[in-house]
Amino acid sequence: MPARLLIEGGVPLKGEVAASAAKNAALPALAAALLTPEPVTLTNVPDLGDIRTMLRLLQTLGAGVTRRGREATVTVDQVASDRAPYELVSTMRASVLVLGPLVARHGSARVALPGGCAIGVRPIDQHLKGLAALGAEIAIENGYVVARARRLVGAHIVTDLVTVTGTENLMMAAALAEGTTVIENAACEPEVGDLGALLTAMGARLHGVGTARIEIEGVRALHGAVHRIVPDRIEAGTLLVAGAITCGDVRVTDMVPAHVAAVLTKLAECGVEIEVGPSWVRARAGDRPRPADIVTSPFPGFPTDMQAQLMTLLGLADGQSKLTETIFENRYMHVAELARMGARISTEGPVAIVRGVTAYQGAPVMASDLRASAALVLAGVAGRGRTEVSRIYHLDRGYERLEDKLGALGARIERSP
Ligand code: EPU
Repeated sequence: MPARLLIEGGVPLKGEVAASAAKNAALPALAAALLTPEPVTLTNVPDLGDIRTMLRLLQTLGAGVTRRGREATVTVDQVASDRAPYELVSTMRASVLVLGPLVARHGSARVALPGGCAIGVRPIDQHLKGLAALGAEIAIENGYVVARARRLVGAHIVTDLVTVTGTENLMMAAALAEGTTVIENAACEPEVGDLGALLTAMGARLHGVGTARIEIEGVRALHGAVHRIVPDRIEAGTLLVAGAITCGDVRVTDMVPAHVAAVLTKLAECGVEIEVGPSWVRARAGDRPRPADIVTSPFPGFPTDMQAQLMTLLGLADGQSKLTETIFENRYMHVAELARMGARISTEGPVAIVRGVTAYQGAPVMASDLRASAALVLAGVAGRGRTEVSRIYHLDRGYERLEDKLGALGARIERSP
């Protein structure tokens, strides 16, 4: 039987825990190594399923990879293959991040179309339109995106919607294009900022990263660099909710408080006492949370990647809350599982109405996607009795041994077998 987490809930979590580095910053940073023949060394790389998948993908494209603890060095002397196979892309959509760098450096890319996934349809049309604007010829052949260009040429791109990996793909592609590119309606997520910092260290000329208008002056070649990955704001937020939902007292260190501002605002609205230091946040709660309404939106709005965790907290609130998910059309898979633990949540399209209950009861539940798994673990540590979360390979894609971190805070949680 695949690994499960066994949780005996009901212990208030207390203590200090460090955030790991962000999966969603490490993935584009690894893909960026395709842009140069020189080594790119990333420090503070988290040990996660998705990171291993990306390293495997880079190796199939010709990368040499060395990993020493949390340091990973990727060297792509030459692109040996331009093909990102369906086997890898279908297990991890972020594989599409190799598309921009491959076309820019190698002049061609064949990347399997990812298809839908548990949380939504998730098209990549904006990536493709942007690359086409930069002069790439794009075709769909046998389930693959085939992109070709002799050398990309700078362009003015306005994306139809805010896309995180789309912005990242276009930034990487434009870094080696001839002339200047402007990306309007760009994503402002901290992970985009982190990629900008790495590209700058590699010799790229970028302005406005972190704003909705990014300007990129293309250069002929990029060089190697050493870069430290930004802390994971979603992991940090999840750990803070763990403190709040168990009426505990948790301090998360090694994080950037400004990156979780929207989450802290909501936690405070729920009655959680928040204390903020330069690189840490402390969350304390003594009582049932108060209800709150949440609408997900691109950064600096409330992140969709924290929606499931906050819903789990609000499920115990003294009153009714309303959540509106605006980023993904199917991101309420955790609702049915939370209901098995006693939650009273109804959904209609993008809106979820959460009527707070006084406690969750432990139950066997099944993870459906990464953040939904985290929500079930939170319900388990807060709940009465024993919860068994199965299919935790979803959790392991993006959380580094979450059970160890929660265990260090006093949670009774173990991995089985
Ligand atoms: N979209 C399009 N066309 C595109 C691109 C996106 O219609 O070409 C739509 C999507 O379907 C979605 C919305 O635009 O409805 C936003 O999607 P976005 O492209 O921003 O998502 P992403 O880049 O695929 C990243 C994170 C996700 C996170 C979202 C939103 C990475 C590797 N993944 O995905 O992280 O939820 O941004 O913030 O950075 C997770 O870590 O659990 C996770 C799903």
